[in-house]
Amino acid sequence: MSETSIERTQIRSRMVGRIRASHEGSEVTLAGWVHRRRDLGGLLFVDLRDRSGLVQVSFGPDWTEEASLECARGLGHEDVIQVKGIVVLRPQGAQNPDMGTGEIEVHARSVELFSNAQTPVIPVYRGPEDELPTEELRLKHRVLDLRRSELQDALVLRHKLVLATRNYLDGCGFIEVETPILTKATPEGARDYLVPSRVHHGEFYALPQSPQIYKQILMVSGFDRYFQIARCFRDEDLRSDRQPEFTQVDVEASFIEPEDIFSWIEGLMVCLADTAGIDISQPFPRLTWVEAMERYGSDRPDLRYQLEITDWTQATSSLGFNMIDSAVEAGARVRGLRLSGGAKLSRRQISTIESKAKEVGAPGLLWAKQAEGGASGPLGKFLAPEDSLAMGLLPGDLAFVAFGPDSLTSPVLAAVRSEAAEALEFTPEQEHSWLWVTDFPLFDLRDGEITPSHHPFVMPHPDDIDLLESDPSSVRGTAYDLVYNGNELGSGSVRVHQPEIQRRILRALGLSDPEIEQKFGFLLNALSAGAPPHGGIALGMDRIVQRFSGSESLRDVIAFPKTTAARALYEGAPASVGNEELSELGLTTLKSSEG
Ligand code: AMO
Repeated sequence: MSETSIERTQIRSRMVGRIRASHEGSEVTLAGWVHRRRDLGGLLFVDLRDRSGLVQVSFGPDWTEEASLECARGLGHEDVIQVKGIVVLRPQGAQNPDMGTGEIEVHARSVELFSNAQTPVIPVYRGPEDELPTEELRLKHRVLDLRRSELQDALVLRHKLVLATRNYLDGCGFIEVETPILTKATPEGARDYLVPSRVHHGEFYALPQSPQIYKQILMVSGFDRYFQIARCFRDEDLRSDRQPEFTQVDVEASFIEPEDIFSWIEGLMVCLADTAGIDISQPFPRLTWVEAMERYGSDRPDLRYQLEITDWTQATSSLGFNMIDSAVEAGARVRGLRLSGGAKLSRRQISTIESKAKEVGAPGLLWAKQAEGGASGPLGKFLAPEDSLAMGLLPGDLAFVAFGPDSLTSPVLAAVRSEAAEALEFTPEQEHSWLWVTDFPLFDLRDGEITPSHHPFVMPHPDDIDLLESDPSSVRGTAYDLVYNGNELGSGSVRVHQPEIQRRILRALGLSDPEIEQKFGFLLNALSAGAPPHGGIALGMDRIVQRFSGSESLRDVIAFPKTTAARALYEGAPASVGNEELSELGLTTLKSSEG
């Protein structure tokens, strides 16, 4: 089918955005919104908008029927109209090179008003100088905000990326299977959204944090290669890169090793980037978690610039800096970053970096500026020329130094690294930095509490299985993350397929055998039914669209997003419900029972 025949309906002959000079003389019937209207006395111009773009429609006594001219004079912003007319070339000097349709206009013979619009609360038409209204206002009036071309383009790209994902995975032999939304808790580290059962008072469904357990069960059932464009729900503290409901490209396959997942997913990323008009190449580099933390202090380093952490424990051992010496005696290391040309940063810029480091718990961040004549700054004062030499500092350098346990210095230096790169306006060495981070620890140990670093179904590294009970913190998992320009886009692992190892992991997490049965009995049952070795990954679709569309916010690539306070401002959710509905569900709220 040609583009025009796809666009044609009983009410319009084509969309407005692709009319060109070659269509001069054609009769067209167009339909859309009044984007802008200019009344020049005798002549009247309307920019008519549909999803494809804009076209200028002109109304004049010589070519427009009288009643239509009258109607056109009454048109307001965002009214919905149909226009019948003829394509003409714009006169010399009246052409608009910034507009795809800027060489032509449509001389309207007639116009019909489909709907009158109230004066829009937020303007859809914005002049070059006009700023966007606040995001809160835009989310409240999403129906109007969604008319903005930036949002329309992002959602069109989203559609194309989802379509390309389906086609690509289908081509690799994956089949899409839908898993339940009303389900049982699946642990992914957040709280569940719960749905009360009307039929079974006191019992609740959980909305899925991910389809993790179902996709594993599908593998045991023999589906071999599964995917799903899956909606997930997590009641967690929201940050700018998180929504309470979001979409994953969820993938699982049997009889595979991580290499298989890497090669499928790299191919998918190349295909999606290509769909978005971005050129990237594979293979993606890899770092183990230990290497990433050692060299960059982060498990999702931005490798667009090469700035690595150095171990300065030895180089600073003879400074006579008491705090450092006693920390090192207690087993700590001294680590830092050398910023070439960093000495040009002002005290104010340095203290901004210091306060960012404090936000992640700086245990003592020192700095030194190196000049020809010697070093200065809180650490610089202690540096003799031979110390600077031992640390590899050159004139013009700025060094940040942190000391303490690696678990504290790593996040601090990661924060310094990204803040300093911004302050120094580092030009990225590459535009797209892809990275696999592999071999994450199986568990996180924080404040004496042990939690899975991904989820409890990750297969331990084969060499570390015997340490599950004796030294859980040193057990490596077969988990991997996909990182793009410092952002986590995806996460996956090889899974446990032996029920006994799965039980040992759940016990290591502090669950009793009855709790294990109650929470995970159905998974363990499945694993006992003859489970193939399997593994997979889930990619954040919203994050992929955000990165590939260059959108500033995750909310700009979701049609109806929530705020960071988990509110839907347009439809007004969450909302209270009446006592009658509550009692039907067997519920009272604390508020209503108090009242
Ligand atoms: P994980 O919890 O890491 O893994 O999620 C996978 C990817 O989903 C995206 N993501 C989010 N995007 C927007 N808002 C959120 N609140 C949000 N949370 C996660 C991220 C993340 O990398 N079942 C495992 C995957 C597996 O092991 O196969 C899982 O869900 O891009």
